[in-house]
Amino acid sequence: MKILGICGSLRQASTNMGLLRYAREAAPEGGHIEIADLSDVPFYNADFVEKPVAVLRLFEQMAQTDALMLACPEYNYSLAPALKNVLDWASREPDNRLLAGKPVAILGSGGGLGTARAQYHLRQVCVFLDLHPLNKPEVLVSAFAGNFDEAGNLTSEKVQQQVMEQLLALQNWTDRLTR
Ligand SMILES: Cc1cc2nc3c(=O)[nH]c(=O)nc-3n(C[C@H](O)[C@H](O)[C@H](O)COP(=O)(O)O)c2cc1C
Repeated sequence: MKILGICGSLRQASTNMGLLRYAREAAPEGGHIEIADLSDVPFYNADFVEKPVAVLRLFEQMAQTDALMLACPEYNYSLAPALKNVLDWASREPDNRLLAGKPVAILGSGGGLGTARAQYHLRQVCVFLDLHPLNKPEVLVSAFAGNFDEAGNLTSEKVQQQVMEQLLALQNWTDRLTR
């Protein structure tokens, strides 16, 4: 099973990226996680005559993946623009071919509520995009409680366990949806 991880934070030591990196390293047998590179993805603009190379690469990865894992930082009580931008780009493809019916796991690291508010906004966006988010387990992580090292690597065994459980649940969810 192929899973594409997309992270809404672009900074080098991103803790949200740390969650995805851990998922990639710990992926159980039969699961393969790739992480998208958003560093060169421009803001969506309908005036583009040709799609930028970074967008084409992302679309290729999205087309080949069985499921998505969205690491969702919380910016001002909502999802971060880099993540929304990817969804906006993808949503303009004919027949919503990159997103329609795709299973999704949502996780995030941030302030006190562990990005809960942003994650629930993202779930609302998923309705229109016809994405199918996994309900449980939720992964709501504090970025400021010693769960990560300075480089953004996930060091908390408790959170590592939560990410693993979500990954296994995503695999089951994907099996159920594509059976
Ligand atoms: C513009 C901006 C707005 C933010 N707003 C919130 C917020 O509403 N809630 C929250 O929990 N954290 C907020 N934060 C803090 C981020 O959650 C925190 O910086 C987090 O570490 C970002 O994820 P990252 O480590 O993956 O970059 C905000 C950060 C930025 C830069």
